[in-house]
Parts: sequence; C-alpha cells; structure tokens
Amino acid sequence: MPAIAKKKPTIVLQRTRHPLPESNRSEVVRALQPIQTGSIELYLQLKNAHWNVRGHAFGSLHALFDATANEVLEFVDNLAERMAIVGGEPLSTVQKLASVPQLADAPLGMKNQDEFIKLIVDRISYFAGMVRDSLSTIERNNDPVTTDACLRGLASIEKKLWMIESHLQSKA
Ligand SMILES: [Fe+2]
Repeated sequence: MPAIAKKKPTIVLQRTRHPLPESNRSEVVRALQPIQTGSIELYLQLKNAHWNVRGHAFGSLHALFDATANEVLEFVDNLAERMAIVGGEPLSTVQKLASVPQLADAPLGMKNQDEFIKLIVDRISYFAGMVRDSLSTIERNNDPVTTDACLRGLASIEKKLWMIESHLQSKA
C-alpha cells in the first residue's frame, strides 16, 4: 500500500526583520514546536517526581529531580524565546499542552523511588531524542543561534540523564 503523505500544518509567522529567510524560519519554528511544549511537560513531570518520590534515597533524588527541573525550565525559556525571535508563537497554555501531549503522563499515585527513576530516565531519554531530531532540521535551515541554544540545553539535560540513571546502575 502506498504511504500516505502527511500534510504539514501551516506555520503563521509574525512580521520580523530577522535576517533568516522566511522559508527557513518557518521550518525552524516547526522543529521547535514539539520540543517547546515537550520541555514544559518534562519540567512538570520532574516537579511531580520531586514532590512525590519516597524511599531511602529520598534526599538525593528530591534534590536531583529539582535541580534537573530548574535546568529544564531554563531550556523551556530559551526555546520559547528562540521561537518568538524567529517569528513563531511559543505556547504554554494548559489547553495546548493537553491537546498535543509530547510525553506519556506519569501514573497517579506513584511513590516508589525506583519506579520514579525509571520513569524520569524514560522521559528525559525520549525528550533528548526529540531535541536531537529537531536539531538536524534546525541545522539544515541555517540557524546556528537556535542550534547553539538547543545544544546547550541538550548537554545539560543529557548530563542529568546520566546522573539519574546512575542510581539504577549502581545496583547491577
Ligand atoms: Fe521544592
């Protein structure tokens, strides 16, 4: 059966004197949209873990989930501002986040530290993969400034992935 070509949603850009051509800017905005909303979801999941985790490693996990959330929040802001700078419309309404979720939600009632570590490792890993996918599009569209913002955010998030994941590997 022939593959059905997916129609790309139209990107409406704001007027701007930004020097990057409009065709490139619309592709950059298209690439940023899922990681901009996904980063907000990841931030919320990290705060959920920070507040609800229980277990003998509570102290270190409570602090590590919060430190990671703070770094993701900085990335959220940088992504949203890059979108606005190139003429896009960053969104952070509850309605928008609920209508196109990027990450699987956390189950209600989760407390166990190992379950939370596995869940957060899974969410960060998935999100980092999304950023890597978007990066190739952004690079192709000649936007080194947005590429740099994504790389810096990705580096700090992947470092936190290693730090959180290491709690599991120490038991192997
Ligand atoms: Fe706190």
